[in-house]
Amino acid sequence: MKAVTVAPGTAASLRLQDVPEPDASHGSVVVETLAVGICGTDVEIADGGYGWAPPGRDRLVLGHESLGRVVDPGPSDLVAGEHVVGIVRRPDPVPCPHCAVGEWDMCSNGGYTERGIKGVDGFMSERWRVEPDYAVRVDKDLGILGVLLEPTTVVTKAWEHIAAIGLRAFWDPRTVLIVGAGPIGLLAALVAAQHDADVHVLDRVSSGRKPDLVQRLGGTYHTGTMADLGLAPDELVHGAMEAVAPAGVVCLTGVGSASTPGTPSQAMPATDVVLKNAVVLGSVNANRRHYHRAARILAAADRAWLDQLITRQVRPDEAAQAVRRAPDDIKAVVRFADT
Ligand code: BGC
Repeated sequence: MKAVTVAPGTAASLRLQDVPEPDASHGSVVVETLAVGICGTDVEIADGGYGWAPPGRDRLVLGHESLGRVVDPGPSDLVAGEHVVGIVRRPDPVPCPHCAVGEWDMCSNGGYTERGIKGVDGFMSERWRVEPDYAVRVDKDLGILGVLLEPTTVVTKAWEHIAAIGLRAFWDPRTVLIVGAGPIGLLAALVAAQHDADVHVLDRVSSGRKPDLVQRLGGTYHTGTMADLGLAPDELVHGAMEAVAPAGVVCLTGVGSASTPGTPSQAMPATDVVLKNAVVLGSVNANRRHYHRAARILAAADRAWLDQLITRQVRPDEAAQAVRRAPDDIKAVVRFADT
């Protein structure tokens, strides 16, 4: 079968190649790939800046934002023809206390693996296998939009953690500021809007569909400040700490590019953190309950709105184009088959 693979650590190594059928060690459910989304992590892997091949190999099948159709459910309670998304992370084998209770997104020894990212093949192949417990059903009516489930899990988890931190004191949050109107930012805006927050999104782009997408959620779109969104992590944290209200929470879901040139590192604004009773938290990945919640968030969202997030669909032999960002891209998707 065909698969899009990369040699992690080597830039421009992405190619479509023939690989063996999916390994039974990946699970008893056989899935036909419908689509795979591309995110900043894939771009970093394709640029040679992130990612790990499976042990003993030098190439990795890329892709962690999956959507597929069950071909053979094996002994699971799935049914052939159902749409599923594969969970990305697998617990570390020790396991650490977090992985032992199914919170592999909080893995505390770093021994976790991630499909298409760290040590296990991803989903960007004509077929893949998955363990029944790591296949999440998606509403077939969502069609191609089911491919947005995985990025939605990332913001679902972040929202859950922000809310948990908020409960340390009286908590009646109104305003949410989201920095960056990429797929994660826009899906975060969707989650915040579904929680009736006063949503503000800041991005450097002033035209195209992003402003309209935010307005359609009832939010306000801004351009221009926060050091003009240099996207250097330290500067953003600094800007966010200045902007956050007392007792507020600043949540970072992306690290930007570590190789951004000319970005001076700034000391953490400790005074701001202390005198505002503020919290800065990082959030990565998601566990099974976030997938189930995210599926509900997508089900409750306006389909026409979600549809606007997918700005580009390419064939598997064009995957190299999908990891090169076009200026007005939101989500690029590699399309394997019709839904
Ligand atoms: C994925 C996460 C993953 C993270 C770090 C993100 O793009 O959505 O599932 O944990 O990259 O590898």
